[in-house]
Amino acid sequence: MNIEVGPVSGGVGVEIHNVDIKQGLSDSAFETLRDAFVTHGLIFLRDQDITPDEHIAFAQRWGDININRFFPRLDGYDQIATVTKEPDQIVNIGGGWHTDHSYDHVPALGSILIARETPPVGGDTLFACMYKAYDTLSDGMKQTLEGMKAVHSSRHVFGEQSNYRETMKDRFSNAEDATQDAVHPVVITHPESGRKALYVNPAFTLHFEGWTTAESQPLLDYLYAHASQLEHTTRFQWAPGSIAFWDNRCTWHYALNDYHGTRREMHRITIEGSPIS
Ligand code: SIN
Repeated sequence: MNIEVGPVSGGVGVEIHNVDIKQGLSDSAFETLRDAFVTHGLIFLRDQDITPDEHIAFAQRWGDININRFFPRLDGYDQIATVTKEPDQIVNIGGGWHTDHSYDHVPALGSILIARETPPVGGDTLFACMYKAYDTLSDGMKQTLEGMKAVHSSRHVFGEQSNYRETMKDRFSNAEDATQDAVHPVVITHPESGRKALYVNPAFTLHFEGWTTAESQPLLDYLYAHASQLEHTTRFQWAPGSIAFWDNRCTWHYALNDYHGTRREMHRITIEGSPIS
């Protein structure tokens, strides 16, 4: 059967049909997936009954694996970060709009997240398209943002002083590594698609370079509200074996925390990116 690629909403993302990662992907099948990923920045696959080793082998076709320094790791697999919420835990991981790794000098390309255990109801993930966020700004705002840079950090999330980290306790480690900040253009040109994308996010962006936090916040808040308007988004409902592979350079995501008292376990492999400008 031929691979089929179909949109899942008018906002962002496509679902890939007739692919079985376990059976291995031919070069031409892989190129179809790569085209879909570069074009849409977000691909979904369903019913992938893969082992951790097969997850790693699939990820390695996209690039080198980034071993996350803060997340818990799957036993025996440093390459796989676990994103778990137990029935007695209140806070989830990723429960707000963000793009991963914008605090790194070279942000990760993206992550391949597979659902291992899903709650009976809830636990969906929202995604938003940062190409659309940029494209739908006025010409005046585009000109204002052109040439501006923003400072991103992990300190307030994963660092020693973070309240969030305190809440997450045993789920994050290496607080001492959350020290570096990174400066990136507010509008980037995506290294593979060549399209412009808005590149600030509510979780990790601190302020515009050369602006105070107080000066930056009103404009950042405007951009966040603009970027996350529902027309730019999609909502993915998981089942065990569902996969989402998102591009951090042109999407945001938000893990909904609406399944208290039940368990959700996801396995995430992150792929190294290339410099952005
Ligand atoms: C994440 O932010 O990486 C986790 C997303 C999710 O659990 O749906």
